[in-house]
Formats: sequence, structure tokens, C-alpha cells
Amino acid sequence: MVVITAGLPRKPGMSRDDLITTNVKIVRSVSEQVAKFAPASVVIVVSNPLDAMVYTAWKTTGFPTHRILGQAGCLDVARFRCFLAMELGCSVEDIQALLLGGHGDDMVPLPRFTSVHGIPISMLLSEEVVNKCMQRAKVGGGEIVQLMGTSAYYAPASGTIQMVEAIIKDKKRILPCAAYCEDAYGVAKGQKGAGYFVGVPCVIGSNGMEKIIEVDLVGDERKLMDESISHVKDLVGAVRKIFPDLA
Ligand code: LAC
Repeated sequence: MVVITAGLPRKPGMSRDDLITTNVKIVRSVSEQVAKFAPASVVIVVSNPLDAMVYTAWKTTGFPTHRILGQAGCLDVARFRCFLAMELGCSVEDIQALLLGGHGDDMVPLPRFTSVHGIPISMLLSEEVVNKCMQRAKVGGGEIVQLMGTSAYYAPASGTIQMVEAIIKDKKRILPCAAYCEDAYGVAKGQKGAGYFVGVPCVIGSNGMEKIIEVDLVGDERKLMDESISHVKDLVGAVRKIFPDLA
């Protein structure tokens, strides 16, 4: 297994996307070495802007898509669960939540699939409080950068460990990861080879990404997911434009 964390971190006031040119160069050079020295590895990318860096690692290594994953969802969903747990005064361990989309401020937490020990969140907290927790989770990366003066590292590391452990122990855990999607979630329907890495729930085991779990989205959920997917496409578009060899 290889975990790629190399790249410049964010400074206060920067978005993840501001890092694109510098970090593509770094992740590309690391990925070249991975392909050379660890050609059978499963790769987890953590560098930002996450969705573009996963793409960069995929294009550079030429690895099959199931051996390339991005860590973002484990971190983002942990933030969402944490803020809900603080409101409820209960353990974060008893909160299950689903979060989709890119690792940007337009990530998509889904209250309809969020529960506390099996109890739907809507039965325990008002819509207003849940919305407040969702909003704080979406910009939680920026909040921690402001507080620490640099990017988060404990929480992304913890999210990455969940993924690594699931793969090494072949646990078949269902974790939210940036995984290659074509038809799944309508990312690039019917466009063979033209998919994108987007945050979706996956079964993770010794083969890397073993299966994407798809749920039907309704109303606003679909709209928000489409917006997030389109942001991921724009980011990858920027990579292709600046670095035509990665197109
Ligand atoms: C965050 C950075 C690491 O979300 O993307 O904290």
C-alpha cells in the first residue's frame, strides 16, 4: 500500500483549489516512483485538492481504477458526525452518516441517511440544527486551517488509517472514498473511460475499491450531488489544461 500525502498544505484564506499547480507537480513525481517501485500497490491519495490529485495519481501510474482511492469522505463524515454528537451529547461512535461528492465546500452530507443508533436523525434534532452541523462540516477544513494556521493532519491521518486497515485486513468495510465512477451516481453515464473520482460509499478490501454502493438520490440531494460532481470535473479540467500530458 502507498499513501500519498505529499504536497503543500493550505494557509489561512486559501481554498484547496489554490494548490493545484504546485501539488500536481509533486503528486505526479511521487506517482512516477510508485509505478516504478511498487507496481502492484493500492494507492490512497490524501493531498489537496483531493479530487484532482487522485486523478493525477491515476493518470500517472496507469494503475487500474480499483487500486487508486482518495481519502476525504472518512474525514468529512467524521466532522459531520462529531458536530451532531456535540449537539446530542452522545458518543460520535453511535452516529452513522452518509456523505457524497467532492472534497470541497460543496460536499454533500445526507441527513436522510443519518442516524443515531439506528434512530433517524430527524427524530432527535430539528432540521435547523442538522443544517447547522452540515454547514459546519462542509467548511470544517477551512475552520481548522484558521485555528491552526496550517492544514489539518490528525483527522485526515485517522481517516486514512481506517482505509488502510480495511484494505490490509480485507475487512470489506463500507467507507466513503473518492472512487472512480462512470455510470455510478450519474458521474459520466455511458462514457467508457471518461469517469471521475468522486466521493461515494465503497466496499474496501484487499483488492482496494471492490464495489460502489449506489443509493437513489431525490430532489435537492440530486441537485447538490450534480453541483459537487461538476466542481470535480472543473478541477480535473484545470489539471488537463495546465498539464496536457495528464489529459
Ligand atoms: C481538510 C483538509 C486537509 O479538510 O482538506 O482538513
